[in-house]
Amino acid sequence: MAGLDEVFEATVASLDARQQRRHRRVVAPLEGATLQADGRALLSFAGNDYLGLARHPALVEAAHRGARQYGVGATASPVVCGHSPAHAALEEELARFVGMPRALYFYAGYAANSGAIPALVERGDAVISDALNHACLIDGARLARADLSVYPHNDLAGLERALVAARGARRRLVVADAVFSMDGDLAPLPEMLALCERHDAWLYVDDAHGFGVLGEGGRGSLSHWGLATPARHASRLIYMATLGKAAGVAGAFIAGAPAVVEWLMQRSRTFFFATGAPPMIAEALRTSLQLIESEGWRRERLAALRVQLTEGLAGLSWPAPPSACAIQPVILGDNATAMAVMAALEAQGLWVPAIRPPTVAEGSARLRISLTAAHQPDDVVRLCTALARVHAKLAATPPV
Ligand SMILES: Cc1ncc(COP(=O)(O)O)c(C=O)c1O
Repeated sequence: MAGLDEVFEATVASLDARQQRRHRRVVAPLEGATLQADGRALLSFAGNDYLGLARHPALVEAAHRGARQYGVGATASPVVCGHSPAHAALEEELARFVGMPRALYFYAGYAANSGAIPALVERGDAVISDALNHACLIDGARLARADLSVYPHNDLAGLERALVAARGARRRLVVADAVFSMDGDLAPLPEMLALCERHDAWLYVDDAHGFGVLGEGGRGSLSHWGLATPARHASRLIYMATLGKAAGVAGAFIAGAPAVVEWLMQRSRTFFFATGAPPMIAEALRTSLQLIESEGWRRERLAALRVQLTEGLAGLSWPAPPSACAIQPVILGDNATAMAVMAALEAQGLWVPAIRPPTVAEGSARLRISLTAAHQPDDVVRLCTALARVHAKLAATPPV
C-alpha cells in the first residue's frame, strides 16, 4: 500500500486539476459588510449573516454576560451536566417563537440533521428527499440506513410518485430544505404537507435559510406559507432551523411535538454523545431572538436590497433565477468561468463566492450572492457595476 502522503498528494492534485480545491482565507471583520481577507479589504457578499446580527453589540454583551455567569465551556453532554439555565430558557423561547410545543437546541445544524433523521427512521423505512437538499439531510438519511429516494427539485408530482412507491415502508419521512441554500428558491410547504397527509407520511423541514428572514417577525418559512399555527401540524411536521445564519450566532434547533423532541433527545447521537454548546452562545441567541422579532427594519432593508439587485442583474445574459430571500444565484456553467468571474470581482474589491461541484450539480457552477441587512444600497450598486463590467469583458473575449 502506498504511504498516506503519496496517496493524498495525488487526490488533492486531482482536485486542483478539476478546479475543485477549496482554500481558506484568514478573515476578520471591518466596517459594515466589509471583511479583511488575507490582509485585503473586500466588500463581502459571501456570508449568511442575513440580518447583520453577528457583531451586534447586544449579542456580544449577552455572550460576555453568559461567560461571566457560566464560564466558557458546557463541560459535558446536555444529558450529563452540559444543560445550563441559558440553554433551558433558549429552548423554551425558541419553541414559543416558532409556535411549536417543544424545541431542542443542537450545537450545529449539521449535527441536528445528521443526528435527528437516524433517530426518526431506520432500515425498512423510507426517506424521500428533494434533489437539491443540503448534504447533512442526505447524510442523515444515509446514516439511518433507510431506503432513500430522491425526487426532482420541487416537483410535487415526483414527490407524490415517490410517496406511492414507498407505500410498503414502515415509516415515510419526506425531508426538504425550506429555502434551498444554493438557489434561494422555496419549497412549496403547504402542498408538501397536504401530500404527506394524503399518503400518511411525515415532513421534516430544514429552514436554515428562512428562519429570521421569512415570515411574520422572522418566524421563518412555516409562517411565510401561512402555516401560522405549526403546533396544529405537529403530528406530521418536524421543524428544524439553524442559528448561525440569520440569527448571527451558532447552532440549530428542532421543534415539534413533545414526544418527538423527547425521543430526539434520547436517540440523536450527535446530541447525546457531544459536549453541549457553550452557555454563552445560548445567552447570545436569546438576545438574537429578541432582535429578530423587534428589528423588522432588517428584513425591510433586505427586501429593498433584493429588489435593487434583481434590477441590477436584469441586463446581464447570465441566468439569475428569481429569489424570495437573501440568496441570489447567478448561473455561470463551468467551473473555470465561475472562478474567473469571482477573481475579476475580487480584483475590484468584492468577495462573491463561486460555488462549484460537488456543492452544486456538474455544469451549474455559479456565483452565490448573499445579501445582508449590513449592506447599504451603495454596496449593491458597486456589485452590479462590477458584474456588468466583468460581463462585458467576458462577452468581448472569444472563447479559447
Ligand atoms: C440547509 C442547511 N442545513 C443545515 C446546514 C448546516 O448548519 P450548520 O452550519 O449550523 O452546521 C446548512 C449550512 O450550512 C444549510 O445550508
